[in-house]
Amino acid sequence: MSSEPPSHAVQGNYLDQVIHYHVRTKHHFNRYARSLGYLDWANQPDPFRRFEGAQLIPLPLLKPDEEPLSPAYGAMYEQIGVPCQPVSLKTLSRFLEFALALSAWKKAGESEWALRMNPSSGNLHPTEGYLVLPRIEGLDVAAGLYHYAPKEHGLERRAEFQADAVDQLMAAFPPHAVLVGLTSVHWREAWKYGERAFRYCNHDVGHAIGAARIAAATLGWNMVLLEGMDQDTVARLLGIDRKEDFGEAEAEHADCLAVIWPVGEVKGERLGVRGGNHVPLFLDAAIVKELAGGAWHGKANRLSREHGVHWDIIDEVAEASRKLACDTHGVPLPSSSVTPHVSPLTPHGASAGQIIRQRRSAVSFDGRTSISAATFFHMMQRVIPCAERAQLERPIPWDVWPYDPAIHLMIFVHRVEGLTPGLYFLVRDHRKLSYIQRAMSSELSWIIAPGCPEGLLLYQLLEGDARKLAVQVSCHQDIAGDSAFSFGMLAEFEGSLRERGAWWYPRLFWEAGLLGQVLYLEAEAAGVRATGIGCFFDDPVHEIVGIQGLAIQALYHFTIGGPVEDRRLQTLPPYGHLVREK
Ligand SMILES: Cc1cc2nc3c(=O)[nH]c(=O)nc-3n(C[C@H](O)[C@H](O)[C@H](O)COP(=O)(O)O)c2cc1C
Repeated sequence: MSSEPPSHAVQGNYLDQVIHYHVRTKHHFNRYARSLGYLDWANQPDPFRRFEGAQLIPLPLLKPDEEPLSPAYGAMYEQIGVPCQPVSLKTLSRFLEFALALSAWKKAGESEWALRMNPSSGNLHPTEGYLVLPRIEGLDVAAGLYHYAPKEHGLERRAEFQADAVDQLMAAFPPHAVLVGLTSVHWREAWKYGERAFRYCNHDVGHAIGAARIAAATLGWNMVLLEGMDQDTVARLLGIDRKEDFGEAEAEHADCLAVIWPVGEVKGERLGVRGGNHVPLFLDAAIVKELAGGAWHGKANRLSREHGVHWDIIDEVAEASRKLACDTHGVPLPSSSVTPHVSPLTPHGASAGQIIRQRRSAVSFDGRTSISAATFFHMMQRVIPCAERAQLERPIPWDVWPYDPAIHLMIFVHRVEGLTPGLYFLVRDHRKLSYIQRAMSSELSWIIAPGCPEGLLLYQLLEGDARKLAVQVSCHQDIAGDSAFSFGMLAEFEGSLRERGAWWYPRLFWEAGLLGQVLYLEAEAAGVRATGIGCFFDDPVHEIVGIQGLAIQALYHFTIGGPVEDRRLQTLPPYGHLVREK
């Protein structure tokens, strides 16, 4: 059963709008997508949203060696020997730390800026996080909606919800489930990047989904996006439709809602594995409406004094790509233990927490470091979602949503020992191989990469030095050529949009961001470093492999190699400011 979808004519109009947005925001060799063209420093948006007047509940600042301890990085993916943590303020603190907290402060002269566990285009951090907490034994806070304040590492109580009504809302979920919401302040990215900013905000949502899923996995928790939901209900639950609380403050756009829950044995109780049961992918809109009628607290802060230019096209594409229909589906809980997908490269290596905390974007690469073919293949295996499996039996983090992969990788191999430099291609879903081959030039060789593990669809397309080409199409950024390899994420585009609807557009970027998040961490685990690349020349990328039209489109670039540190910058601890204030 689902609520009434918009008419065909309306849907067609929305589709045209998102496709128009996409085409209009391409970068071309001779013309970048529209933006201000300079940085309006006086109106740089505040990266920290606060709700003035809302009570702040500080979360405990946990040292790395304090409980809950995180498992070895590889073991976290396999969920082997990962103790299932109960939901408490301490474990939620760890969850939010690994998902959305500050990771460090950087200092150059008088300027200081914070970095976070989740990366963000231009470090502008449009993504805001929320929790909906029911009453849970051992969790000493009132049922309600909380906004995560990363600088304070605290929860701002936006609304108290009737505990009985929240119980009713959560009744169909596994015990001790909590909801996580993500929203975007588009203005933060638009301030710098103008019209292309909607793309970047959605990459960032994908990164945040990945960061949250992996944070949950360190605690023995599962996470699933409530993808059946319509966005109006998400906005209502998160209180971002409350004009009275936002006033002149920059709006937040409802992106997604997820449910997290413990899976395993907590205090003798077996949680989250009730054979045969389903996890619903939606909430009861009537209960959400009832909850939203409760007591709200706090007024959103204004992030920029003035907005020189307002980019209307971002509001338009955000509106056109809103998910309007509610689908009342569920996913079955796994009935048996899931077989491991990729064996860890370093089973007894760094902890997941260490890898998550040390993740950074490389600002430049040394042009020398190579990686082994085994490491390269291992990274490629990590991004295979195994979509033929039931959702909750897919490898982490691909169990987070119900979709088949729509993104494939066109890889510029520069320095991978055992592989000839050149252009390669990773098909992430074997069912798509012939579709992709047909959409690309017939002159590509499609030879399986030598030594490639069985089942991995990694092909060599062309031999040769691709360093200059990679730099050129990545907006002339050297990071695309000085690394061990870089790649373009190519999405099945127009066909998938026409099949699913305009709401699918942001999800293509979420998938790209999620994939990037996995590889940011894999790079750290392999002793190298990664950087996301949002700036690339769209059609010149397509021309490399002869893609014409809109069947397949590049959505994100990425690069991995041996980093060069910027020694002029000082690095400070993430929460030194809180310790000093005490
Ligand atoms: C979607 C996205 C696009 C990005 N694009 C670029 C880029 O084109 N060039 C670049 O040098 N860094 C790029 N970055 C890296 C960001 O600048 C970096 O994530 C940010 O400064 C925060 O630093 P951190 O990743 O070390 O936490 C991008 C990151 C993301 C998530």
